[in-house]
Amino acid sequence: MEKQNRKATRVVAVLAGLGLATLMPLAAHAAEKVKVGLMLPYTGTYAALGNAITNGFKQYVAEQGGTLAGREVEYFVVDDESDPAKATENTNKLVKRDEVDVLVGTVHSGVALAMAKVARDTKTLMIIPNAGADELTGPLCAPNVFRTSFTNWQPAYAMGKVAAEKGHKTAVTLTWKYAAGEQAVEGFAKAFEAGGGKVVKQLTLPFPNVEFQALLTEVASLKPDAVYVFFAGGGAAKFVKDYDAAGLKKSIPLYSSGFLTDGTLEAMGGAGEGLLTALHYADGLEIPKDKDFRTKYAMTYKMQPDVYAVQGYDAAQLLKSGLDAVKGGKLDQATMVKAMEAATIDSPRGAFTLSKAHNPVQDIYLRKAEGKDNKLVNVAVKKLADPARGCRM
Ligand code: PHB
Repeated sequence: MEKQNRKATRVVAVLAGLGLATLMPLAAHAAEKVKVGLMLPYTGTYAALGNAITNGFKQYVAEQGGTLAGREVEYFVVDDESDPAKATENTNKLVKRDEVDVLVGTVHSGVALAMAKVARDTKTLMIIPNAGADELTGPLCAPNVFRTSFTNWQPAYAMGKVAAEKGHKTAVTLTWKYAAGEQAVEGFAKAFEAGGGKVVKQLTLPFPNVEFQALLTEVASLKPDAVYVFFAGGGAAKFVKDYDAAGLKKSIPLYSSGFLTDGTLEAMGGAGEGLLTALHYADGLEIPKDKDFRTKYAMTYKMQPDVYAVQGYDAAQLLKSGLDAVKGGKLDQATMVKAMEAATIDSPRGAFTLSKAHNPVQDIYLRKAEGKDNKLVNVAVKKLADPARGCRM
């Protein structure tokens, strides 16, 4: 709020200096817009994910007539390149230079952790439209930090449960060595082992490397009953093609959090056919909101939406709930936070509410890859809430 007042004072001072004090009503009007900082990957292995989130966010704003709660939306955009080393500086550009009202980002867990530190330190409202780092709605939870996506634990846990129910006894896991992959493996292992299975080996490679050959040779020699992986974006498409080309797809069932096959099936050129994955979104949901969302998305962007587009769309919906509460007045954060905490988000994935830690409580679907679609099989776990260990709010 202080920031808003500072800004308003500055605008008035500039106008007065120009002898334009009579234009003050105009200045007051300009202060009513909402400045949205989009910090997302627009290059690298997660580029398509950043674009889909942006598309989804803008689609919701377009559906509202190009405004949110009657406010003009001004965008400030930074390509974070999924590079944690640049994350603090990139976030500061949006917060300090552009003075955004809300940070929307990002995809990569490591980048999001650095962003959230800036958001906490500067008390800037933040909405995470993807990154699953468990800490963000766990030990690092904060009143001004919200997430419209998932924790890394959520879909992984559901996949582990399903893999155990299928009777597999041993599994090897394979992922990029950073928060998202490590936490996904942890979630999978927890449920798989609770269901009677055993993770016999955890293999990793650095993000965003795609040299999978040596690891696939190791998988082949370990001969587990099943393989669980976390990969997404461009790297996911390459992994599935390599898994198939190595002859493993025929012999060892491959399971994953659904990021493996969302938005990537076409690039796999058929290698993904039949894969079972778990995620909070699926193709073929019988939800009117989803049908409407998909029709509009396809018309606007000439492609089908994926989970990332949904998460971006829902970030805009959540922001609107906060803006509605301040009714065109000052962006009082406490008022906005209270409304956002109480919101029911009418998501294409199915309506959801937020946990006390500000993470979606949501159904996790089991899906099967068929052609270009991740077809709904069933609900793997209903209304799954992250345990939010360590969150005190
Ligand atoms: C993450 O880094 O948290 C992450 C990235 C891509 C995904 C999912 C999670 O598809």
